Amino acid sequence: MKIRALLVGLFAVGLSAAAVAAEPIVIKFSHVVANDTPKGKAAEKFKELADKYTKGAVKVEVYANSTLYKDKEEMEALQLGAVQMLAPSLAKFGPLGVREFEVFDLPYIFDGYDALHKVTTGDVGKELLGKLEKRGIKGLAFWDNGFKSFSANTPIKKPEDLKGKKMRVQSSKVLEEQMRALGAIPQVMAFSEVYQALQTGVVDGTENPHSNLYTQKMHEVQKHMTLTDHGYLGYAVITNKKFWDGLPAETRSQLEQAVKESTEFANQIAKEENDKALEAVRASGKTEIYQPTDAEKMVFKKALVPVHKKMESRIGAETIQSIYKDTGFDPSKL
Ligand code: LMR
Repeated sequence: MKIRALLVGLFAVGLSAAAVAAEPIVIKFSHVVANDTPKGKAAEKFKELADKYTKGAVKVEVYANSTLYKDKEEMEALQLGAVQMLAPSLAKFGPLGVREFEVFDLPYIFDGYDALHKVTTGDVGKELLGKLEKRGIKGLAFWDNGFKSFSANTPIKKPEDLKGKKMRVQSSKVLEEQMRALGAIPQVMAFSEVYQALQTGVVDGTENPHSNLYTQKMHEVQKHMTLTDHGYLGYAVITNKKFWDGLPAETRSQLEQAVKESTEFANQIAKEENDKALEAVRASGKTEIYQPTDAEKMVFKKALVPVHKKMESRIGAETIQSIYKDTGFDPSKL
């Protein structure tokens, strides 16, 4: 009897030692923006929820502000399994060969968050995320950021004001075409390099949602900004498919819950974060903020919407039409 009790005791000690020794699963989540942005805050929220739902079995390490990888490198790192999660802007999937994502970059295709959500929460969004699988990537969710303003060191009231200006864009052919439609010269550049490029005059201007502009201090090196709302910038939360499929089923569903709730959080705070950032830029007194009239906005719209037709062969007419159908946008009605 004594021996039996001893054996049971030893077995129990062994079990708890094994539990203590069990290493948590580590998810490296890399991104390129500041912590104090919609994406930065949502990544932190995901970390907190993942810890809570998996009871510490998964540890998320968030690397913000390009501290681990820059734009292009982070995509490669995810495919190689050096990081497990990212939330790149939808404008950065073209170089991966998933050109359909560039549909989100078409100027004026969404006239606000409501129209956008019809796509990101519907079948079209689901189908687009599914297209990543053949690249070894699993698309988990869409996270909002916001609508972009143009900025430069000279006033921007009409398309001609950007003529000949070197404008930084993300790695999207649609965004390059958008700048050409305004007579500007597009310069593709990693996000981490934009501030310095603006400061040194390598580029004259850029386009951003306000939270990105403010947290990178771009307003300190851009004298003018115009609230054109001419395009959308948001994210796809992605993971390495092999890693995700290899997780224990229970852990995966706990993480799915963490993704779901952090997505709700991201999409709740995005507009407010951008509004706050705009007010902070205004308060800084460093950048003159111009609110175009409806008529002035229409001039930009007329100059930019032809980009939809021009990029049809790259993105696919079907993808563009399916978004028009969801949002009710009709380019012939301008
Ligand atoms: C940019 O490069 O301007 C953005 O994609 C950065 C980001 O992740 O919001």
